[in-house]
Amino acid sequence: MLQKPKGTYDIYGDKALTYLYFRKLVEALMDKYNAKYFETPIFESSELFHRGVGETTDIVSKETYDFKDRGDRNITLRPEGTAGIVRCFIENKLYAENLPLKAWYLGPMFRYERPQAGRYREFYQFGFEAFGSFDAMMDAEVIGIVCNLFKILGLKGVSVNINTLGDKESRENYRKALLDYFKPYLNDLCDDCRRRYEKNPLRILDCKVDSSNEIMKNAPKMTDYLNEESRIHFDKVKKYLDAMGINYKVNPSIVRGLDYYTHTVFEVQADIEGFGSQNTLAAGGRYDHLVEFVGGPSVPGVGFAVGLERLFLALDAENIDIREIIYPDVYIFSAEDEQKPYVLSLSNDLRLAGFNVEIDYNGKSFKSNFKQADKVNARYIIIIGEEEVESKILTVKNNETKEEYKVKLDKIIEFLDEKLGEEHED
Ligand code: HAM
Repeated sequence: MLQKPKGTYDIYGDKALTYLYFRKLVEALMDKYNAKYFETPIFESSELFHRGVGETTDIVSKETYDFKDRGDRNITLRPEGTAGIVRCFIENKLYAENLPLKAWYLGPMFRYERPQAGRYREFYQFGFEAFGSFDAMMDAEVIGIVCNLFKILGLKGVSVNINTLGDKESRENYRKALLDYFKPYLNDLCDDCRRRYEKNPLRILDCKVDSSNEIMKNAPKMTDYLNEESRIHFDKVKKYLDAMGINYKVNPSIVRGLDYYTHTVFEVQADIEGFGSQNTLAAGGRYDHLVEFVGGPSVPGVGFAVGLERLFLALDAENIDIREIIYPDVYIFSAEDEQKPYVLSLSNDLRLAGFNVEIDYNGKSFKSNFKQADKVNARYIIIIGEEEVESKILTVKNNETKEEYKVKLDKIIEFLDEKLGEEHED
């Protein structure tokens, strides 16, 4: 029997629903940030990733799916999304439009890695890239989006780790320090690291083979080689994260496995007991020279990508069913047929005001309507009877606490905004 290739998996049944629900959730979240949806080819010219992600990275040197097409072109299945979005940004001259431009994407990526729990050869990323701002506000906002996504999902066991790689000048100083430091230890490093020493010594710090080597632990830290400008930028990022109430740790060992980063880099780890080694759920950072490097003008960028498989494993570990997260804010039903027009007009108004609304279409009994509201996980129930229509005062019930409120029809949007907002803050 033919089988799927190693490191891949099929999406169907419950899993397919989870993917669809996740996409919906992400769409709604991205609208809140005025981010635009992008889809770029699953394969691109190999050169894009060599230039963009970096020749000496593990991703490009060991993990890409490369092939020649029938026209003898060098093609690579995308190992990540940023390089393709940058190519699209340049090729379509999107830099000439109103910046900042915020782009999001969701789709499969391919890396020839050793498969294990949370690590696949074909995996899905939801990614976000913002072009056109050097400001530290954008770095903080990007980290904030990841935190908000996890918050909406109800995922609790996550920790945010940040670091800075500084600007070009700081990186050059750091590169020199690493060359000096590793020189006497070259024979103690693996073959790859000896090659990295020549081409890109920062990559040594990202080595999976040498990671437990004592030499690594005492290596110079980037934070000691930052110039004034880079330090100020990083201080601002921290200040803005504090302002947003985001808990984070500064972790100087984060260098990231891709070459394009400058200044802020970050990783969000699953902090769940027994989760396993593939615990980085999301990662990203700033890349001020990538657009230029790929052949465009000097436009800064910052972004992240979330790995869907790992995120779903984390949700499972915390017993969160993503399908229960998208639920109606309000369930509306009428006591009698005569009030059905009011159910329709009120549900219309509430939907236009931004609420998710479910209504009873079948004239069910009170009892079955309350059951149905439970089944669809509605937060509030509005019951419309003769009295409500006449008095223009609605009966609204909190479906969890069962508390009942009388709310004037013209105040219902305000009421729901306030109540649902409060729940969100909990
Ligand atoms: P990355 O750290 O290579 O960054 O990947 C981001 C996320 O993709 C990881 O944190 C992980 O959740 C998931 N991931 C990576 N490899 C695999 C795999 N083999 N199997 C399952 N999940 C995986 C990037 O790709 C950058 N493009 C992120 C970025 C966007 N930086 C700026 N903008």
